Amino acid sequence: MYELQLSKALAVEGLSENDIFDALEKPKESKMGDICLPCFKFARTMRIAPPMIANKLQPYVAGLDFVERAEVAGGYLNIFFDRNFMAKNLEASLALGENVGKSDEGAGKTICIDYSSVNIAKPFHIGHLSTTVIGGALYRIFEHLGYRVVGINHLGDWGTQFGKLIVATCKWSSLEEVASKDEYFLNSLYVRYHREVEEHPEMDDEARAWFKRIEDGDSEATAYFNVFKDVTMRAVGKVYDRLRIKFDSYAGESFYNDKMDACLDILKAKNLLVESEGAQVVKLDDYNMPPCLLVKADGATLYATRDIAAVYYRKQTYDFDKCLYVVAYQQNLHFKQLFQVLKLMDFAGADDMEHIAFGMVSMEDGAMSTRSGRVIWLQDVLDKAVEKALKIIEEKNPDSKDKLAIAESVGVGAVVFSALWNNRIKDIVFSFDKVLNFDGETAPYVQYTYARCASALRKGGEPDLCNMDLAAITDDEGYEVIKSVLSFCDSVRQAGKLREPCYVTRHVVDLAEKFNRFYIGHRIVVEDAAVRNARLLLTKSVANVIKTGLSLLGISAPEEM
Ligand code: ARG
Repeated sequence: MYELQLSKALAVEGLSENDIFDALEKPKESKMGDICLPCFKFARTMRIAPPMIANKLQPYVAGLDFVERAEVAGGYLNIFFDRNFMAKNLEASLALGENVGKSDEGAGKTICIDYSSVNIAKPFHIGHLSTTVIGGALYRIFEHLGYRVVGINHLGDWGTQFGKLIVATCKWSSLEEVASKDEYFLNSLYVRYHREVEEHPEMDDEARAWFKRIEDGDSEATAYFNVFKDVTMRAVGKVYDRLRIKFDSYAGESFYNDKMDACLDILKAKNLLVESEGAQVVKLDDYNMPPCLLVKADGATLYATRDIAAVYYRKQTYDFDKCLYVVAYQQNLHFKQLFQVLKLMDFAGADDMEHIAFGMVSMEDGAMSTRSGRVIWLQDVLDKAVEKALKIIEEKNPDSKDKLAIAESVGVGAVVFSALWNNRIKDIVFSFDKVLNFDGETAPYVQYTYARCASALRKGGEPDLCNMDLAAITDDEGYEVIKSVLSFCDSVRQAGKLREPCYVTRHVVDLAEKFNRFYIGHRIVVEDAAVRNARLLLTKSVANVIKTGLSLLGISAPEEM
């Protein structure tokens, strides 16, 4: 708790706030303080022995209002919090209810977040899980921190796949049939196309011709395009609803068809566009990057061209302070090139662009490929997780009335949580058993703890905030819970600052663990009114933080499990 304040206070002697934040630790025993700072890591840069560093830093914390005392022990600075101060803070936290952790640090600032950005007429597969849920979590976290957030789904709704699909539809189906069927059917046409084109390469010429007709606005081709888009969006929308994801804009690649020329003009005026084998590129040799291809020899524009147009449009429309792209690390080069080109163009927001990269998700049993058809659809993963959750709930709580709704919440929550547990950049190997383990670092574990709190509050009745006497909490387990409740706001801020939702994910698990330790050792609803009220208040504060934390992550918290 108070990590951010401590990090600020200790950012002295050449140490940065982040150095301190990352180094702060929970001591193994409570006699070593509520939080401690091991100073060993700093010895190299500061060129003095760790105990000397601890000594040097001690005066900087001793004066903070929430600090009772700070002791140097070897290379450690052990910090003890003032319990009266904590009690006051807990009161304030309880008064916030589910607004706990909110702040106004972002007031007056706008953040655009480009996330999910699925490709139309291609499957919404497990590979899109991370961008969708990390983007959704960042959206809510920034909102919680007071920013105006604009969520943008930069749909991949342009490209030769549309031509291919028209060829496939004409050959093996019809517009009416595709319109009446689902995304799986559409994908089967795509897969068949790629199988048959091996033997009939002329199909690719046909596909190119069809795509050209779409580009030219031909009405027949456009009718196909619209049907493909409708079928995909219907399917994708269902997944978004389940994942609690929303967008403020669905302006996809095709939206920029008429907005690229203006950008190309700027590039030309600045002499940045050069011809290379008939194509137009921006040279980036000076920055150790291959050229950024913007117009092909046949006049077709590219992904990067649309991205440049999109940036200008976003700046003009939303006047963003930051523009974030939640996109897999495979596109590192694309974004480095894009940001460099924007700098060369003297684009006003060039320094406010950020690529929020993340690792890959693979299934325990291997990878996937769209073309061969061995695709793992996100919808199927959610269905399977819900089905498995239902089985577990039927065993644990056969009398529950809302089994289906609870299973949906637990199953989907488990999948979402798994993509938000680690630092973004880590690759994930997805396993149903792991994410649904009720005793692991999982959504069900946290949801179960919330339901446990809710049940205690039903039994004990609403606690009386006006009569809070935290002196009735005398044990360390209780204080560990209070500390975790109070430091929730730090984790939300840190999550925003580093664009890492995992700080929130880790926090709710940590709090659940601490509460469960308290719960096992103490009855909540006891005879003594003061003790009962204090324990109920503690329980209530835990419920608030877990519910809010999960909801920032896009996960619901059933009242019963
Ligand atoms: N549709 C792209 C893909 O699936 C991601 C788009 C990301 N956003 C962007 N503005 N480039 O790879």
